[in-house]
Amino acid sequence: MQNLINILDLSCEEISELITVADDIIDNPENYYEKCAHKKLATLFYEPSTRTRLSFEAAMLELGGSVLGFSEASSSSVSKGESVGDTVKTVSAYADIIAMRHPKEGAPLVASQRADIPIINAGDGGHNHPTQTLTDLLTIHREKGTFENLTIGLCGDLKFGRTVHSLIAAMSRYSGIKFILISPEELKIPSFVKEDYFGYTPYEETTSLDEALPNLDILYMTRVQKERFFNEEDYLRLKDSYILTPGKLENAKSDLSIMHPLPRVNEISVDIDDDPRAAYFRQAKYGKYIRMALIMKLLNIH
Ligand code: CP
Repeated sequence: MQNLINILDLSCEEISELITVADDIIDNPENYYEKCAHKKLATLFYEPSTRTRLSFEAAMLELGGSVLGFSEASSSSVSKGESVGDTVKTVSAYADIIAMRHPKEGAPLVASQRADIPIINAGDGGHNHPTQTLTDLLTIHREKGTFENLTIGLCGDLKFGRTVHSLIAAMSRYSGIKFILISPEELKIPSFVKEDYFGYTPYEETTSLDEALPNLDILYMTRVQKERFFNEEDYLRLKDSYILTPGKLENAKSDLSIMHPLPRVNEISVDIDDDPRAAYFRQAKYGKYIRMALIMKLLNIH
């Protein structure tokens, strides 16, 4: 039985296979309509979500399967004190695969040690978000046609932004990658990410989006993660550190890809949405296809 807890649970070859399947689903959706007939996906979401939960559910429905689950801890027996381990042990009797989002780092890993069915980490605290990374990789593949020789700017909350941590882990395995880390001092990338993933991958840290922008092939914007702050004053001071506007893009490459895991708050002006370089809503759409490919892989369906 295979789980997906960290993006590094998948080799580069396995990621290529998932992307090939996702591309084929996009081109030939009718070939996949019955692939998961009679299979059930449980979405156990202890934290709010729009894209991840609904794209997982849409993915399973489009594969001909069914979905069950909860979208907030208060509507499950967690509110009575049930542990994650007991919850997933129980849900193992009702479903074939679980996608779990949890505010505590490591909760999906603990769940995978108790469950009798595959567990997918759908985001754990400020730690990892491997299926967002698969979505990001499919987006990069479709926008750029390669994972090599790219300068990638990561901008915003690099401390708490779990999507950034997982994307760095994934992209640092490809050659010719350079990261430009753009954040306020207080929201710099954590040392565990640097120690684990920057051994051979060059990176620069800066506070200036304007200076970094002309050099970038990909700009990955992120939201300042209000829910991870201990102090509202700090959040209010930092929340609008970077706002991407059409004026700022004047110095950017004509083939820049602007990505964002969403939800956005203020960090990308809506005036940019119609710019062909704005890839973030295409990115959200790709999330369903790559999750279809992942569900099939973990259920061993071909
Ligand atoms: N990108 C992402 O994880 O979005 P949701 O929080 O809406 O699932």
